[in-house]
Amino acid sequence: MIWESRNKSYPESQNLKVIGQGKLNGTVKISGAKNSALVLLAASLLTNEKIILENVPRLTDIEKMENILKNFGVDLVFEKNKLEIDSKNISIKELPDELFNGLRASFFCIGPLLTKFGEAKVPLPGGCDIGSRPIVEHINGLKALGAEIIIDERIVKAKIKGSKNKLNGTQIKLKCPSVGATETLIMAASLADGRTTIENAAREPEIQDLCQMLNKMGAKIYDSGKEKIIIDGVNKLGGCTHKVIPDRIEAGTFLIAAAATFSSITISPVIPIHLEAVTKKLKESGSKITINGNSITIKGKEIKGVDIDTAPFPGFPTDLQAPFTVLMTIANGESKITETIFENRMNHIDLLKKMGANIKLNKNVAQIKGVKEINGMDLVGSDLRSSAALIIAGIIAKGSSKIYGLKHLDRGYENFELKLKNLGIEIIRETSKSTFKENELIIKPSTEEMSKAKAA
Ligand code: EPZ
Repeated sequence: MIWESRNKSYPESQNLKVIGQGKLNGTVKISGAKNSALVLLAASLLTNEKIILENVPRLTDIEKMENILKNFGVDLVFEKNKLEIDSKNISIKELPDELFNGLRASFFCIGPLLTKFGEAKVPLPGGCDIGSRPIVEHINGLKALGAEIIIDERIVKAKIKGSKNKLNGTQIKLKCPSVGATETLIMAASLADGRTTIENAAREPEIQDLCQMLNKMGAKIYDSGKEKIIIDGVNKLGGCTHKVIPDRIEAGTFLIAAAATFSSITISPVIPIHLEAVTKKLKESGSKITINGNSITIKGKEIKGVDIDTAPFPGFPTDLQAPFTVLMTIANGESKITETIFENRMNHIDLLKKMGANIKLNKNVAQIKGVKEINGMDLVGSDLRSSAALIIAGIIAKGSSKIYGLKHLDRGYENFELKLKNLGIEIIRETSKSTFKENELIIKPSTEEMSKAKAA
């Protein structure tokens, strides 16, 4: 039975109308990290005991992952931002593809299911707007741990080789520090026989958060956050209560919005060390940053052009490349933005140029000459982070803008426009009666969608 998603189905024609030249003022509460909560939800499949997750953001990606767990027979009770997860009645079965579509993180289920039940069938996550998103490292690592893997009609079928019901600890060296591969292999190795080492592991804070929760469940994981992680497999993992870390990408998005509007705001809670590469660049560009425990105050003073190259943590995060590019469009002087992680994550550049930005794009390198101002217009976000970037562009632009493509935004930013409104920005979510182009598609809200939107 497919559980009805609690996702409110809203028409594609929703947009955010933003009045430009806004200022931010006040304090904003940062939600739990999407990219941590998603993998922690998958990790809950590793135990029959109850997991209580706190500070879980309400996002459509989270609801999609919840739906997948529910369809595996997991009981979930959501009360505001707290989630009780009970996997004792789980049943391993092949689930319909559509449950997994559009959520790359759904592939995180393969490691826990394989190592706990000896087999797993999970659809290929596929690519998305920002790149091909391969899973070679995930598959090679699982094979090294003793899994037999067949990809049959887009379904990845994994089975523990031979008659053993446990994976075998081994030494793994990743060709690239893939976040998802590191997380998948940590979860698979947590119940394997013996020691696993993962070299060239990704070091993102979300991986450290995963290891903290797994160790609370009884796992034996050492040196998470370093390039070489050690996992000593155990026989069983128990339940625990765990609070999701604050979302460093949401936090960085608000810092950049404040810098771009010469505003002064405080963001909290944050873990400052998770944002070091970002706060360093904002200071270099002329903002005043004050760190006080788990809060950061920024005062946007001037915006000097600075160069950024995205890199794996602790480098500058690729997820903040688009928002930072917007900041550089109105900087004094020139800047160079180089996207090194994903092959197709510069889709926002064209739109920024239409708004009046002076950018020369050559593959994944944007050479920017700061201009005095950019002009508001209708914009369509093509991925989660470019949508947030376009909202910042709308806030700094002259005149008003309408940002479409909110299905991307709602995947990763909890109550984004409400938080901006509380900081003093004139922004409203509206259901447009007209049509608009998205990637050359004319999308016309159906009358049924319009009536539903009105009712909502
Ligand atoms: C995670 O994606 C995040 N998603 C992404 O956030 C984030 O941008 C990314 O890490 C990098 O930090 C979640 O955690 C759910 P990767 P993931 O595997 O795991 C290449 C957002 O906006 N690669 O580290 O898919 C790959 O092509 C999202 O919140 C291989 O070449 O990222 C990419 O170029 C977007 N072979 C690079 O590594 C592989 O086998 C990083 O991918 C695997 C990856």
